[in-house]
Amino acid sequence: MVNMNVRIAVIGAGVMGADHARLFADELPHVELTTICDASEERARSIAEQFGVANVMTDPVEAATSDGIDAVVIASPDETHASLTIAALRAGKHVLCEKPLSQSSQECIQVMELEQKIGARRVQLGFMRRFDPSYVEVRAQLREGAIGKAVMLHCFHRNVTAPANFVGQMAITNSAPHEFDAARYLLDDEIVAISVFRPDVATVGGQAMPVFMVLKTAAGRLVNVEVNNNAGYGYDVRAEVVGELGSMFLRAPVHSELHAHQRAAELYPTDWRPRFAEAYRLQNKAWIDSIRSGQPPAFAANAWDGYCAARIAEAGVTALNSGTQEPIVLIDKPAFYGS
Ligand SMILES: NC(=O)c1ccc[n+]([C@@H]2O[C@H](COP(=O)([O-])OP(=O)(O)OC[C@H]3O[C@@H](n4cnc5c(N)ncnc54)[C@H](O)[C@@H]3O)[C@@H](O)[C@H]2O)c1
Repeated sequence: MVNMNVRIAVIGAGVMGADHARLFADELPHVELTTICDASEERARSIAEQFGVANVMTDPVEAATSDGIDAVVIASPDETHASLTIAALRAGKHVLCEKPLSQSSQECIQVMELEQKIGARRVQLGFMRRFDPSYVEVRAQLREGAIGKAVMLHCFHRNVTAPANFVGQMAITNSAPHEFDAARYLLDDEIVAISVFRPDVATVGGQAMPVFMVLKTAAGRLVNVEVNNNAGYGYDVRAEVVGELGSMFLRAPVHSELHAHQRAAELYPTDWRPRFAEAYRLQNKAWIDSIRSGQPPAFAANAWDGYCAARIAEAGVTALNSGTQEPIVLIDKPAFYGS
C-alpha cells in the first residue's frame, strides 16, 4: 500500500489514545483516522469531534476487526491488550499496541504464535523510548565504544501521583516494563534475574509505594530500577550507563529555566507526554511508514520484546512477594523475530 493512506482506528480514548489521535489527525501524513472507540461513548465522541473523526464505536472488538480500517492502535487498559491484538491480527490488521503487550507472558506467546502463523510481523509495541533521541544517542555511543564496556545501568522512573486504581504490583507490571525494555535495548543484553525491594520507611503512596529492583543480565551486568509512582514533584525519567571508560546520562529536553527569588530552576512536566513527545511522534511515524513499505521498523519493539518484558515483570512480582532473587527463564527466541 505504498501510495495509499493507512486507515486507522484508535481503541481507548483516554490520555494515551487521545494523544495518538492528535498525532494521526494533526501531525502525520499518509493517515486517515477513521474511528475512535472507547467503552465510554461520551469520551469517544468528544475525542472524535475534537479531531474530526467520522466513526464512533464502543465495542473494541468491532473496531479492531472492522472492514474500513487497515490498522489499529490499542490504548485501552492493560488487560485488554492481548485479546484485542489477537482479534485485530485475525482480521488482517496491523497493530500498534500500547505497553504492556500483556501482563501474562503466556498471552504474549499466543500473540507470537498467531503472528508466526500469519507469517508477517504485524505487531509493533509502544515501547516508544526506542525512538527517543536521548536513548538513540546513548545507544549509538555505547555501540561505538565511547565509554568502553557497559557494566552498570541506573534507571529511575518517577510520577507525580499514582492513579487511584494503582496497586503495588503495577509499579512492576505497568510502569517498569518501559525500564526493562530500555535496559535490554540500550545494553543489547537479556535480563536473567531480578530482586525487588521496598523501602521500609516509606509512608507516602500506600499500596503504590516505591519499588527498587536489581536486575542481572546474561553478560553479567547489573541494572537498578527505581519506580516511584508518588514522587510528588514531577514526571522524571533518568538513566546513567556506567562503562569501564566513562559514563553517559540520558538528558530530558529542557525548554526553559526559571530564575527568581535567588534560585534557578528547571520545570518538570506533570506527565509523560511532554517528556516523550518526540518519541511518540517518531514511533507513530515509523509505524505508518512500515505499514506502507511492508518493512517492520528496524529497532521498534515487537511481540518478542513484549514477551520478554512480561516475563521480567512476572518474575519481579514473584520476587516482590518472596523477597528472594528470581531467575528469568525465557522460551527460545523464534527465528521469526530475528537474532
Ligand atoms: N507508552 C507510554 O508511555 C504510556 C503512557 C501511559 C499509558 N500507557 C498505556 O496506555 C494504556 C492506556 O493508558 P491511559 O493512561 O491512556 O489510560 P486512561 O485510563 O486515560 O484511558 C483508558 C481509556 O480506555 C477506555 N476503556 C476501558 N476499557 C475499554 C475497553 N474494553 N474498550 C475500549 N475502551 C476502553 C476508558 O474508558 C478510557 O477512556 C495503558 O495500557 C497504559 O499502560 C502507555
